[in-house]
Parts: sequence; structure tokens; C-alpha cells
Amino acid sequence: MAVEDNDSQVVLTHPSNPETSVTILKYGANVISWKNKGTELLWLSEGAKLDGSKPVRGGIPLVFPVFGKQKNESHPTFPLPQHGFARNSTWEFLGQTTANPPTVQFALSPEQVSSESLQLWGKGKYDFTLILTISLEEEKLTTSIEVENPGAEEFEFNWLFHTYFRVPDITDTLVNNLIDQKCFDQLLAEEYVEKSPVVSFHEEFDRVYKKVDTSKIFQIIEFGKVLVNVERVNLPDAVVWNPWIKKSDGMADFLPKTGYLNMVCVEPGHVSDFVTLKKGEKWSGSQVLTVGGEIKVQTN
Ligand code: BG6
Repeated sequence: MAVEDNDSQVVLTHPSNPETSVTILKYGANVISWKNKGTELLWLSEGAKLDGSKPVRGGIPLVFPVFGKQKNESHPTFPLPQHGFARNSTWEFLGQTTANPPTVQFALSPEQVSSESLQLWGKGKYDFTLILTISLEEEKLTTSIEVENPGAEEFEFNWLFHTYFRVPDITDTLVNNLIDQKCFDQLLAEEYVEKSPVVSFHEEFDRVYKKVDTSKIFQIIEFGKVLVNVERVNLPDAVVWNPWIKKSDGMADFLPKTGYLNMVCVEPGHVSDFVTLKKGEKWSGSQVLTVGGEIKVQTN
């Protein structure tokens, strides 16, 4: 069967290869595994809580309606917790839309969100419908989000696919095609232009690359081999993150403690400013992940 709906999870298996699959937890509509011909491509902490008690540490958490913690006290997202409420709400499973490629949809609207969380965003005055579509092809995983404002109140939001990739050894991992892009370094609280032809990881890394042309493909490379290509549709920004030793040590759900050596987050989103949705408007964006292929160097 291409799509299995268990109580808490949905599993898609590719019809041409039983070892190519994606598993989505209904809590957070968080992808927790993507296997390509038996090889796991995402990192999931061994300490991740999958019981709905806290956001999942790993896979593809969904960030909405705010990225990080809002600092501007007058913005309606200010009272919300870090990364908003989409990742800690249980989404409604809408079912399968196509059999090949296996594709499923999940929805999140105020009915699925706790009244406490809703109260923290404009005192519950916003209405929203989010539809997440996940499609599994032989060498490709596409996650797409559509946000609609069916209500009377205009709202502003961030969106981010907080994707945790599994890598054999972070000290040998490179991410390319970020050169000459403006970035905000969250550790230095400074904005500058990235000058490395490829970024590498030797300490904590937390940068928001801003308004990067969507023709740029980010490749996660290890020993000259492309592990994954990250493409974006209507998602101008990308966060690149590795917590390294001290920060991961402070996260109780980050296990094993050496796990930072085996992960890197490359997170397509719209976070450097807000998307504004007026009454009746819709917005959408996608992350397209493909396996392997040639190294492509994209300069300007
Ligand atoms: C990243 C941020 O996207 O998410 C980091 O850039 C943050 O600053 C990280 O530490 C993890 O956030 P959380 O809330 O899942 O611990």
C-alpha cells in the first residue's frame, strides 16, 4: 500500500521501491524520516519527543507564524513562543491526493490549534487555513505549503521548513551557492555578505541568508559527493544552522550528544520579513529536495 494512515503517523512508500519512503507525524505535520532506497536523508534526534509533549527535534519541523522569537513588542507575533505554534499542533490528515507519485495533504486552521496559542497571536482574531502537501518521487521529496486568509483581519506571518539533514560527518560537509548573499549572523547579531564559495562547519553556525534568488540551488556536499540538492519555490530565505557542542548540550532532547556531528539544518523559508495576507488572499511556497547528481557551482 502506497499510503498508510496509522493513528499518529502517515507513511508513504514509493510504488517502485519499498525502501523509498517518507514518514510524517500528525503532530506538527513533522516529516520524521525520508528514505531513498534504504538510505535515511534526514536527522532525527534519538531524544526527540514524538508524543506531542514538545516540538520534534529533527526531521522537518514547520515554523509558522513567526521565525525565532519576535523582538518587536508591538508586533502581533511578539507573545508567541519561539517558531510559533504550527510545530506543536496536531494537523488534520486530509488524505491522499494522487497514488503515483504518492501525495498526501494535511491542514491546520484555528480548530486544530490550542486556544492558549491562538490567544497569543492577535488575541485570537486571525483566521487562517494552511494546507501542507507532501509528495514522494523516486529521487525527490517535495513539501509545499499554502496559507490562506479566509477571515476579515489581515495578518503577517513567517514560514520556514526547518529541515534537519543527516550527514556522515559535519566537519567534512560543505554547502555551496551561498557566496555573495547577504546574511544575518544570529550569533554575531551582524549582517554581512557571505564570501565563502562553500560554507563549512567548525563551530556553532546560525545564519539567515536573505532574499537569495530562487534559481540558486543549495547542495549539501560530502567528499565531493552531492548528498542532497535544496531547491525553493517562492521561499527567498534560507537559514543554515548547526548548534555544535555547547548549544546541543543545552537541549535535553538533542541525543546523542555527539549528534551535532551528523546533522546540518538548511531551512528554506520566508523569514527576513513578513508575508502579508489580506482577506481572501493566498500565498504558497515549496521546498524541493533531490538526491545526488553533479556539483553545480552557481555564481551570480
Ligand atoms: C534555527 C535558528 O532555525 O532553529 C536557531 O536559526 C535555533 O537560532 C534553532 O536555535 C532551533 O530552534 P529550536 O526552537 O527548535 O530549539
